[in-house]
Amino acid sequence: MEILGIDVGGSSIKGAVVEVVSGELLSETRHIETPQPATPVAVVNTICELTKSFAWHGAVGCGFPAVVQNGIVKTAANIDADWLGVNLSQLLQGEMSLSCTVINDADAAGIAEMQFGAGVGRMGTVLVLTLGTGIGSALFCRGELMPNLELGSMAFRGAPVEHYASAAVRKNENLSWQVWAGRLNEFLSRVERLFSPELIIIGGGVSTQHENFFPHLTAQAELVPAQFYNRAGIVGAAMFAAGRDHN
Ligand code: BGC
Repeated sequence: MEILGIDVGGSSIKGAVVEVVSGELLSETRHIETPQPATPVAVVNTICELTKSFAWHGAVGCGFPAVVQNGIVKTAANIDADWLGVNLSQLLQGEMSLSCTVINDADAAGIAEMQFGAGVGRMGTVLVLTLGTGIGSALFCRGELMPNLELGSMAFRGAPVEHYASAAVRKNENLSWQVWAGRLNEFLSRVERLFSPELIIIGGGVSTQHENFFPHLTAQAELVPAQFYNRAGIVGAAMFAAGRDHN
């Protein structure tokens, strides 16, 4: 079964055709820069443009960087405030006349990693963190997702931790890998006290450079890079749209 998976991020909107039974990408990954300001109208237009570029007429699964319940955007931590309350799946369906399902981007990445990537067969508590513009999080126990966990919004030194330790912060503040890893360690130790995961999977674009910061990370849990790197969101969004997000 083939679904177009789309991942809406702070810097780009990416998509690829996914074979959801195997988790394989059947097309190249295409991306368009995220429009600025990333208003609902601008982002929806970009998603439509990306979908058209694949000449796609099947179902679409879309990962989005916010709490998403029944297709409705419920938070706007790192996105335009106009998104609050927008029914994104309905909007996309109306614009494209295609079946569209929307899920939190980190939950999507987690689903792909658990089914086909670094979390395969892990039945204990597994935490998937995506490090990008923000910090995304997805928590699994016995392979089941607890959706919309927003650990990036956790208060840390008086501000959301994603303002202190995301991959974008490393670049913007020109932090060395070691200093940035030190910030991640503070976050990881707090998270470990709360959830005691047996495995932590680190995804997001920066996971392709894991050699630079993994040696500086300290955690009780086993710590591994995501196997799909930053393509996990695309694959998981497609799997979710196909109802293949359970073991
Ligand atoms: C959002 C999350 C999202 C994460 C990663 C955060 O700012 O609140 O919903 O998963 O960024 O994109």
